[in-house]
Amino acid sequence: MTETNTSDETTTFAFPEGFTWGIATSSYQIEGAPLADGKSPSIWDVFCRKEGRILDGSNGDQACEHYARSADDVQLMSALGFSAYRFSVAWTRVIPEGRGTVNAAGLDFYDRLVDDLLNVGITPVPTLYHWDLPQSLEDAGGWVNRETAHAFADYSEAVIERLGDRVATWTTLNEPFVSANHGYVTGEHAPGRTSRADGFAASHHLNLAHGLAGQRVRSIAPDSRLAIVINFTPKRPATDSETDRIETYHRNHIENRWYSDPIAGFGYPQDTADHYQWDQSEVHVGDLDVISAPIDLLGVNYYTRDTVSADDSYTHGSDVPVNSMGWEIHPPSLGHLLRELRDRYDFPSYLITENGAPMPDQHRADGRVVDHDRLAYIRDHLIEVHGAIADGCPVEGYLVWSFLDNFEWAWGYGPKFGIVEVDQATQARTPKLSAEWFSQVARTNQFTIS
Ligand code: FCB
Repeated sequence: MTETNTSDETTTFAFPEGFTWGIATSSYQIEGAPLADGKSPSIWDVFCRKEGRILDGSNGDQACEHYARSADDVQLMSALGFSAYRFSVAWTRVIPEGRGTVNAAGLDFYDRLVDDLLNVGITPVPTLYHWDLPQSLEDAGGWVNRETAHAFADYSEAVIERLGDRVATWTTLNEPFVSANHGYVTGEHAPGRTSRADGFAASHHLNLAHGLAGQRVRSIAPDSRLAIVINFTPKRPATDSETDRIETYHRNHIENRWYSDPIAGFGYPQDTADHYQWDQSEVHVGDLDVISAPIDLLGVNYYTRDTVSADDSYTHGSDVPVNSMGWEIHPPSLGHLLRELRDRYDFPSYLITENGAPMPDQHRADGRVVDHDRLAYIRDHLIEVHGAIADGCPVEGYLVWSFLDNFEWAWGYGPKFGIVEVDQATQARTPKLSAEWFSQVARTNQFTIS
């Protein structure tokens, strides 16, 4: 773990031995095959068909055809030298009705995927829920219904029973804030509901779902590690005004602490619950104990920071660097975040489970895809991770979002996050310059800048 300045003005960033280097994806964004082998529709299959919900009118029916191409995709990951792959399991493949009968054919796909990964020495890091709730459960109330948390635990059990002998780390939920907020409050994601009260109920039932599934991990696969993936978007007020500062304070609680605080045993930020008049009636006696059972690892997703104005009038000036979705690029916020997490909580280890950027790609005549901006984004954030580790933050690895160009939710196929290009028409995969660079970093456990 060193940072070395040499006389020729280059600096080498060497990472701790055994550091994990990998890539991340999710089921709906890459798999396609929406009805294969007994799969049922998820809320995303349904939501994408509603008028005006997806910017380019697209959906995940085809996506990257990963369901049919997973073996080749694993070979490509292996050729690039990665040591871990984070993917998600589609609940609708495993228990198509949400509750009840397990569909063995759906589990077979993930079983093969895990074996293929292990055969080439890549550690599988499955996430049990990355937003694709069975539509049948949404019809019964979705995450607003407490029963969904119990259904999630039963579904998790089926997956852990099948894969638990080969999976070392289980992550329960991906970004519960986005599930609750975008799905139930703003409506920009499936299922597209717009009620703050529903959002609070959903947030609690997601936390409960994590806790209940965690119990299954502990009982069925006691030697594996338990984790959850949370997104953190650091906030700062647009001005010094009291209204901007108050708004920033509560949004920070809702987005950045609503999940990690109860998991760490602090409960929900009370003053923010009061501010939004959430009476916590969904929180039953004992729930917070279930939620706060110790985890072994916190998955951290980081992309950007937010500048908050109470009236939502803030926009970036032209001097602020942004990605192609308009999100500010601010690497130091990742370093601050990791130190803040270290100081506030006691989680034993951290894994950067998502970090990356949609950027324009240039196609050269020789067929290469050149993406200097994406490469620079990843490099600059890795420098922050390196600095945080040097400061004592126990970060064990870094996974790029994303392995492949894929379906970016409400944005459709416009934003390209992949370090590997996917040609939508031919499905050809072409590693970009960033993939070549990141592959070299993964192989050597270090990189040099000049
Ligand atoms: C995260 C999601 C992931 C992807 C990236 C860009 O919020 O977890 O699926 O869409 O953003």
